[in-house]
Amino acid sequence: MTAPPLDTSTATTATLRGREVIVFGGCNYLGLAQHPSVLAAATAALNNYGLSASASRETTGNTSAHQDLERALTEFCGFESGLLVPDGYIANLAALQALAASGCSAAVLDERAHPSLADAARMAGLELHRFRHLDTGHAAQCLERLKPRAVVITDSVFAADGAIAPSTDLHAMLRPEDVLLLDDCHGFCVLGNQGRGTADAFALSRDRLVVTTTLAKGLGCAGGVVLGTQSLIETCRRNSTAYICTTPASPILTVAAIEAVRVMQRHAELHESLCANSNRVAALLRSIGDHTQDPRTPIFAFTLGLSAETLREIHQRAWDQGVWLPLVEYPGGPAPVYFRLSVSAAHTPDQIDKLTAVLGSVQSPTCPLPSGAKP
Ligand SMILES: Cc1ncc(COP(=O)(O)O)c(C=O)c1O
Repeated sequence: MTAPPLDTSTATTATLRGREVIVFGGCNYLGLAQHPSVLAAATAALNNYGLSASASRETTGNTSAHQDLERALTEFCGFESGLLVPDGYIANLAALQALAASGCSAAVLDERAHPSLADAARMAGLELHRFRHLDTGHAAQCLERLKPRAVVITDSVFAADGAIAPSTDLHAMLRPEDVLLLDDCHGFCVLGNQGRGTADAFALSRDRLVVTTTLAKGLGCAGGVVLGTQSLIETCRRNSTAYICTTPASPILTVAAIEAVRVMQRHAELHESLCANSNRVAALLRSIGDHTQDPRTPIFAFTLGLSAETLREIHQRAWDQGVWLPLVEYPGGPAPVYFRLSVSAAHTPDQIDKLTAVLGSVQSPTCPLPSGAKP
């Protein structure tokens, strides 16, 4: 079912169905979609460029803003080269088309990877094999049966539940010709020094590594990027129809994204407060019986062992108190119906106190009551 439409939103609140609520959801992890200097950059760009690039970057749609953003992202994330594309979905297709053009014939994909990755592998003409979720050993077995060159593919951080992929082990098990592709849509801005992403967080060698990400989530703008070696990005530029035959993200959002990267670099405290807020929410969930949450990401998926009906009651009670806890039926989570909460750098201590007030009284069947307490 389509989620209710928002009428207005800030980094931590929204108005919908006629009332303002605090939102613990979405992927605007650093609050950059509403950061004042990012908004100012977007306003200035409107006057310089108008609304749209209006053509492929390979014809007349290339702007200095697109090139500057490419450089800024490449440098910030520590890669040799990068290519901007319209969005994260297209980034996966562009990357796999480039790998197919460079001799890759098969893809080995985590079974819970984002659907755009399987779509991209099929569209790029790769033979597709799936390995068990987060299971490096099974990925290695799948790889063994394939002729080189193959690409191993995973989300670096899974959107549904915040699980972190074993990127270091997956990279280490590659044969000399193979490549690892990480979809870093939920790792970029979240993991690594000041949010530089998964490759930075795990100090992955950039050799035989391709990273794709959206600029619409943590960076709060729009667009996608493929990051890799000079040679892979050149192959992408020359061969990927997903790049060649599409209009790039609007110059307004491109200029906004350049400023968003600068804000991340200038304000280390943004990423620090994302980490602090993630730790607070993980501790809150531990206190009510869920010890499975990884505080390294701001994504929390849980049911506390409660039925879907009880979860709906909690959701309604929270809503009545002005707090929106997204109760989702999105694939890849711990149950058919579950809470998928996220916290951002912009949530204030008062707002997290409200979350604590709403969830702190929930009694999980898996969490014993403190001694002497009555159920
Ligand atoms: C893991 C992952 N990959 C790719 C995408 C696609 O990114 P975009 O929305 O920029 O097309 C998303 C967005 O939903 C995502 O969560």
